[in-house]
Amino acid sequence: MNPIGSSVNRGRGNLGRPAISSLFIHSVAVIVIAFSLTSQSAVPPAEPEPVWRKIDQSQYVGAIKCAECHQGYFDTWKESLHAKMIQPAIATGTNRTILADFTVPSEHRQFELKDVKWVIGSRWKQRYVGEVDGEEVVFPAQWSVAKKIWQSYRGKGDWWYPHHPDWKTRSNFKLCAGCHSTGVDAVAGNWVELNIACESCHGPGKAHSANATKANIVNPARLSVERSMDVCLSCHLSGKPPGTKYAWPVGYQPGLALSDFWHGFKAEKGKKTAEFLENGTANKNRVQGNTFLRSVMAHAGLQCTVCHDGHGSRHQSMTIKSGPSNALCLSCHGPRTSNGPKYATLSDHTHHAPESTGSQCIECHMAKTGKNSVAAEARNHTFEFISPAATKSLGVPNSCNICHSDKTTEWALGYVKKWYP
Ligand code: HEC
Ligand code: HEC
Ligand code: HEC
Ligand code: HEC
Ligand code: HEC
Ligand code: HEC
Ligand code: HEC
Ligand code: HEC
Repeated sequence: MNPIGSSVNRGRGNLGRPAISSLFIHSVAVIVIAFSLTSQSAVPPAEPEPVWRKIDQSQYVGAIKCAECHQGYFDTWKESLHAKMIQPAIATGTNRTILADFTVPSEHRQFELKDVKWVIGSRWKQRYVGEVDGEEVVFPAQWSVAKKIWQSYRGKGDWWYPHHPDWKTRSNFKLCAGCHSTGVDAVAGNWVELNIACESCHGPGKAHSANATKANIVNPARLSVERSMDVCLSCHLSGKPPGTKYAWPVGYQPGLALSDFWHGFKAEKGKKTAEFLENGTANKNRVQGNTFLRSVMAHAGLQCTVCHDGHGSRHQSMTIKSGPSNALCLSCHGPRTSNGPKYATLSDHTHHAPESTGSQCIECHMAKTGKNSVAAEARNHTFEFISPAATKSLGVPNSCNICHSDKTTEWALGYVKKWYP
């Protein structure tokens, strides 16, 4: 199935490969600069829209139906953030969804609590959706959960900003809903189910629910690694679809090739963009796909689901084992495996006491380089140790001084040279 096929790629190369993206990011940057220098009315030329593949919403049944036969998966999923991404606005009581304090004044907030229809997010930040002239739009301020403050939210770093600069016409359906809900029809402007539900990852399940077989439902575990990864990448890979009207992979469904619907951004060496730092590590949230595709583990054929359970887990960020305790990494990187590193005891490799945070794999190999609502919230997924040498040459944060912020880069580099010759 390749309904919009080559018209979508237009020779740009696909998800995993370098080719065009440098040119692409560059042109976006030029547009943004050009735009900010000219008047508000100067809108860059829109790109031609392809013929969008339409999904058949009548083939979706919703998570409650799946629960009839798969109660266990439903129960854990229901507790995960995938099931709480977009929620109705409830300001008080035990079902409260609004985290922001609307009594705190802010120059950025041009809306009131009563205007809010939907609440998006809860872990790092919350954004708010309401109606303007009959269309659902995203309001221009967000609440930082960590800092408990209002922040401006204009989307200025996003590629789509020049095409949708006025928040009063910043449509939830065009720019957001496809990644926060299930069975979204871009043209009709509606969804089957709020949130990232079963059929976001398994495809529509009406036929399967009526007569359950393995053949009539998508199981990512039975797809090729690439097609299986595509399921997660359809939302966790920063990029853009063809055209300038929408900002999500319109028409994509699990099992299809994402590259027919979506073009992932690639980092460029030495260049800082909204998405990446100069060394290609994460500069913001939602680049897990882009950064992971560069990693040794991706090249070894591993995928997101070796570490994450799409149905939720009792650990932070739905990891299958605990990240901070090292249990997750040690399941494949124990002292006696060929995956490295070579060491007899943990401290031989980390040079910190075993119980120190400085001995946690994720602190050195998944440094928090990415900004979410505030700096240093999102973990880098290239899994590389970022050396203080990179700070010297490129100015990027490194894995040592993020913790040892009171010490110099030279200090850290000295130990790195000694410990890891
Ligand atoms: C009427 C009961 C029923 C309902 C409703 C149902 N399933 Fe299933 N499901 C089954 C059975 C039975 C199997 C095992 C089929 C087999 O092994 O041949 C299965 C298997 C699966 C599999 C594994 C397929 C594989 O390749 O191993 C997935 C994934 C799945 N279901 C997802 C869903 C989703 C998503 C929904 C809701 C859209 C759903 N199911 C609704 C009964 C149901
Ligand atoms: C974020 C994506 C995601 C969501 C949401 C999701 N699943 Fe899955 N599901 C997966 C993946 C990935 C696999 C394959 C797991 C693996 O790699 O073994 C899977 C596997 C399954 C299987 C087959 C398990 C087996 O033993 O083979 C069933 C059944 C299933 N899911 C049901 C559900 C139901 C029901 C829901 C909703 C309550 C749901 N899933 C929501 C990603 C998801
Ligand atoms: C291509 C898919 C995609 C699009 C389009 C998208 N998002 Fe998201 N969004 C995500 C993913 C994936 C995450 C989780 C990222 C992470 O944790 O790094 C996320 C996270 C968020 C969060 C933070 C959630 C939390 O719990 O802190 C907010 C708020 C949010 N998005 C709002 C929006 C708004 C508003 C739009 C439209 C202007 C939008 N998103 C468009 C995929 C998307
Ligand atoms: C339809 C879009 C979509 C798909 C498909 C999707 N995600 Fe997500 N994912 C999101 C959004 C949006 C969030 C942010 C949820 C929030 O903060 O409320 C998120 C959050 C997460 C988180 C962080 C959860 C937490 O507790 O902070 C992990 C981990 C994750 N996704 C992994 C995956 C994996 C692995 C897959 C594939 C099996 C996948 N996702 C598929 C949209 C998606
Ligand atoms: C499912 C098994 C598995 C898990 C879980 C796993 N890894 Fe890996 N890892 C591998 C394999 C396989 C390789 C590739 C080894 C090779 O090709 O030499 C690898 C490679 C690496 C590399 C690159 C090594 C090099 O040669 O440059 C790093 C760094 C790494 N992993 C860190 C981690 C961290 C940190 C965690 C925990 C968050 C983790 N891994 C979890 C299997 C795993
Ligand atoms: C204090 C920081 C630090 C911690 C903590 C740490 N590492 Fe490393 N790791 C490094 C450095 C530095 C290197 C070598 C430099 C490089 O990767 O280029 C390295 C290399 C590796 C490699 C590649 C090994 C090779 O032979 O090439 C793997 C795999 C790895 N680490 C896994 C882990 C795992 C698993 C953990 C947790 C048990 C862990 N690391 C904890 C700093 C750390
Ligand atoms: C080798 C293991 C591993 C792989 C592979 C992996 N992750 Fe992660 N991921 C982690 C760990 C560990 C965390 C942090 C957990 C914690 O904070 O305790 C994390 C955190 C996240 C988060 C939370 C946001 C953040 O930035 O901290 C999201 C979303 C996420 N991963 C998505 C993905 C997606 C999508 C893929 C595939 C493209 C992927 N991960 C591949 C181990 C992995
Ligand atoms: C997650 C936080 C964290 C990271 C990352 C980290 N450390 Fe540490 N480091 C600590 C803590 C906490 C101590 C205190 C002693 C202990 O617990 O081992 C420490 C102690 C030290 C010490 C000995 C005490 C001193 O101040 O002279 C040195 C040297 C050191 N770290 C260097 C490094 C270098 C080099 C790196 C990068 C390879 C690094 N650390 C990465 C947390 C960290």
